[in-house]
Amino acid sequence: MNTQPELGNVLVSGGAGYIGSHVAHALKGAGYAPVVIDSLVRGNLWAVAGSFRKGDVGDADFVRAVCNEFRPVAALHFAAFIEVGESVQKPEAYFTNNRDKAKIFFDVLAEKGVRHVVFSSTAAVYGEAAETPILETQPTRPINPYGQSKLKAETYLRTVADVNSVALRYFNVAGAQPKAGLGEAHFPETHLIPRLVLPLIGTRAEVLEALGLKKGFTVFGTDYPTCDGTAVRDYIHVADLADAHLRALRYLREGGGTNIFNLGSGSGFSVSEIVAAARRVLDRSDFAPGTEPRRAGDPAVLIADSRKAQQVLGWRPQRGIEQMIGSAAAWHRSRTYTETILAKSART
Ligand SMILES: NC(=O)c1ccc[n+]([C@@H]2O[C@H](COP(=O)([O-])OP(=O)(O)OC[C@H]3O[C@@H](n4cnc5c(N)ncnc54)[C@H](O)[C@@H]3O)[C@@H](O)[C@H]2O)c1
Repeated sequence: MNTQPELGNVLVSGGAGYIGSHVAHALKGAGYAPVVIDSLVRGNLWAVAGSFRKGDVGDADFVRAVCNEFRPVAALHFAAFIEVGESVQKPEAYFTNNRDKAKIFFDVLAEKGVRHVVFSSTAAVYGEAAETPILETQPTRPINPYGQSKLKAETYLRTVADVNSVALRYFNVAGAQPKAGLGEAHFPETHLIPRLVLPLIGTRAEVLEALGLKKGFTVFGTDYPTCDGTAVRDYIHVADLADAHLRALRYLREGGGTNIFNLGSGSGFSVSEIVAAARRVLDRSDFAPGTEPRRAGDPAVLIADSRKAQQVLGWRPQRGIEQMIGSAAAWHRSRTYTETILAKSART
């Protein structure tokens, strides 16, 4: 069995992906020993912090073997498919990976005596929220298989006997930690900030082409009932999200009960405001994006009410939108990012 630092081994499923890798890095910094398990179906080996075992969370024997080897004190479950559009095309793949395999994973954790589990949930579980800012008590009515599959896993986890769990419902996650060599390298990339930043920073044409960004960034919808007609979202820096995971873990380890927390900044930015921030941060006052009609299913405004996370976990995001854009730009300029996207594109 591997040696444990003072705070113990923590299983991080999906720790080779964007958010899981930042959290594993933070765990290490805080004195835990992360044990990443990832099938690498979407992840990157360079992103792994701590011990690594390659495998699928739906493979009960694999998860049992890792638990026997490392005797984790807790688990953080990030492993999932994350693309809303793809989930509409391939719902079964999403229900299998995000719901069915999560259930297998949670059952093995319970069997192996892992009593504390933090689950990566999403604002997508709310669907078209009746009111915004969104409280944890609002009804969950996800409108796509991604949100539905995540909600099923979240709900199941709450029923697992002898396990206390925290579901963290993230809103829009952005930014990077370029000094740690970590950032978002999704392929395809559907998130606003990378799609906005990449064409503005001299990214190689092959990378832009692979990501469908050859014609640059376009704004979807300019006739929403918002301050400037573009959709409003709530963004949090991935490093602030990592901090929330450490706090959720501490909360459970100190005896906190099963709970749900929204994670957002509590204030929204419209797409036009994000574009204006990118112009400032990247010194691109010349930039004027194209526009297209609204995309189906995109609500006008999605903002988190995160007061519960502030009150119970003492969590408050520290980094603003300019830091998200600036750190993303530094990361997207890196050779690791470019080579990763070119390699992923060559495999498709
Ligand atoms: N990125 C966001 O903005 C966002 C917002 C809300 C919620 N989330 C949630 O956060 C989590 C992480 O998102 P991300 O952006 O880091 O995604 P990601 O695709 O970068 O990382 C997911 C990781 O899980 C791995 N994986 C997937 N299925 C697996 C399986 N069956 N077994 C083992 N490994 C598997 C992939 O290889 C990848 O490394 C997801 O659960 C997602 O639903 C993400």
